[in-house]
Amino acid sequence: MPAIVAEGLTKRFGDFVAVDNVSFEVPEKQFFGLLGPNGAGKTTTIRMLTGVLRPEEGKVFIMGVDMDRDPLKAKSSLGVIPEVGNVYPDLTARENLEMFGRFYGLTRRTRSERAAALLEELGLGGREDEPIKRFSKGMKQRVSIGCAIIHEPKLIFLDEPTEGLDVHSRRMIVDKVKRMNKAGSTVVLTTHNIEEANQLCDRVCIVNRGNVVALDTPSNLRSTFEGARSVEVLFDRPVECSEFSDQCITRVEEKGNKMRFYTSDPDEAIRKVMKVRGEKGLTILELNTLAPSLEDVFVKLTEAPQ
Ligand SMILES: Nc1ncnc2c1ncn2[C@@H]1O[C@H](COP(=O)(O)OP(=O)(O)O)[C@@H](O)[C@H]1O
Ligand SMILES: [Mg+2]
Repeated sequence: MPAIVAEGLTKRFGDFVAVDNVSFEVPEKQFFGLLGPNGAGKTTTIRMLTGVLRPEEGKVFIMGVDMDRDPLKAKSSLGVIPEVGNVYPDLTARENLEMFGRFYGLTRRTRSERAAALLEELGLGGREDEPIKRFSKGMKQRVSIGCAIIHEPKLIFLDEPTEGLDVHSRRMIVDKVKRMNKAGSTVVLTTHNIEEANQLCDRVCIVNRGNVVALDTPSNLRSTFEGARSVEVLFDRPVECSEFSDQCITRVEEKGNKMRFYTSDPDEAIRKVMKVRGEKGLTILELNTLAPSLEDVFVKLTEAPQ
């Protein structure tokens, strides 16, 4: 049974369709990414999946439980780290975690033991008893994560969890989520950071303007875009892009003496480069062929129509 089934989810705000008939399944134990530019509909999708927002059309099943029919049961197996933290600034870190533990019905002893262990693991040891309004953004986010996982959910949703955080907090959060995934939790992460999705996710769903535009493993997404392969050449001096116009070269980018030729046929592109080199008496200082990056795929799929 999949951990999540989203079937034809649609959400409008007035006339504006924020999420348009989005469907996907997430198998148990998968690290799943929702990747898209700002405004793509990631947060709205997460809010529907976690029962905060009711879809106008479509259905959500969490571990086989219909979110609309039995929201309490569906929500009991998930932990959510929302885009805007929902921790209490006047409480201490420990009090925040323990309070969430109480919401989830943990015994006093369990919640106090788990809170202590999590605070240590999240690098907040020694600061547990300070009100979190004094904490940095990264520390608050770590408290927010502790609160979301104190009941040890099998399914974790994180909405841009590392956005705007310091490197140290980011690393701690990423490592903790990776460990939970290794230990068997299903993770859904939204991000507009392509490299983050590429590194962390087993499968990535690219969304744009409320629509799913691609859904696959990062490596499959890269390899379906053969046309995004490129040859990068460093010359000893600048050359006009127009010198390289050729059927086999789809686009040329230049940055000083370095030029990047996009092609589906690197061999032909290199022949053309060598021909221009001979004609113009250029020297090649470096030459690399590059596989398409997930960034190329993302840009291609989400670029604004002309
Ligand atoms: N409560 C709301 N009222 C009106 N428009 C909204 C509301 N929430 C989101 N939107 C709009 O829906 C679109 C998708 O938003 P969101 O899901 O937050 O995108 P993302 O998380 O991918 O950046 C955006 O254009 C946003 O302005
Ligand atoms: Mg968002």
